Amino acid sequence: MGEILEKAKEAVKAIRKEVKTKPKIGIILGTGLGKLAERIKNKKVISYKDIPHFPVSTVETHAGRLIFGKLGKKDVVAMQGRFHYYEGYSMREVTFPVRVMKLLGVKTLLVSNAAGGLNPQFTAPSLMIITDHIGLFMPENPLRGENEDEFGPRFPDMYNCYDKDLVNLALEIALKEKIKVERGVYVYVPGPNLETAAEYRMLRILGADAVGMSTVPEVVVARHMGIKVLGISVITDMGLPDALEPLSLEKVITNAGKAEPLLTKLMEKIVERL
Ligand code: HPA
Repeated sequence: MGEILEKAKEAVKAIRKEVKTKPKIGIILGTGLGKLAERIKNKKVISYKDIPHFPVSTVETHAGRLIFGKLGKKDVVAMQGRFHYYEGYSMREVTFPVRVMKLLGVKTLLVSNAAGGLNPQFTAPSLMIITDHIGLFMPENPLRGENEDEFGPRFPDMYNCYDKDLVNLALEIALKEKIKVERGVYVYVPGPNLETAAEYRMLRILGADAVGMSTVPEVVVARHMGIKVLGISVITDMGLPDALEPLSLEKVITNAGKAEPLLTKLMEKIVERL
């Protein structure tokens, strides 16, 4: 048995002692988007520190716990607090919870993040349904090293990486609920510094609409295992190289907070229809 599989099985064993439900929907709650957690009913919460092999979150704005419960009528498992490469974790650590979700029976992963807007037609704050990503700036691919065939193939296909049916469902619901959404390509950068004007320009030229420091590692690992993915970015600031303004974490969090009610509603309606 591969090392990650072995560790993930141990994590699942500990979780199963606490939780009996078998959610098919996994959710990763990103920066400032934690309010969706409050909508989960009949909660059973497990701290990351109580799960074997789970890394422990270091970023203050991210709580570190798995939340099991019902969102509407659906069983879900939500990660409140995720891991970033810039915190010092390896990509295998960053993506370990997604391996665990797979073993728990998750078939669909919903991920959110905060991102800088690169497309000049966007404004901040706003929401962007991710249609594709650029992951080539990952300093280390989470699938690097011996492939664990039990999880997926050596060379996983990235066709339909962000599930087209889920993208269409999100767009349909957004239209019905009168929630304005953009759609576009998310590019991963390792961070933790934000981009220079020249870097924002470069990323735009490469074809990206938004830039951020998360999501892509987890999505690659989810796709490795055949989990369907829907990703939504909160555009918290604009990375316009010719009109750049100073950016603080406070602004990112404030703007994420402004978009939060709409994203929460969108996500809830999406889960209802899965
Ligand atoms: N760049 C990278 N990551 C981000 C940004 C940004 O401008 N905004 C929020 N997360």
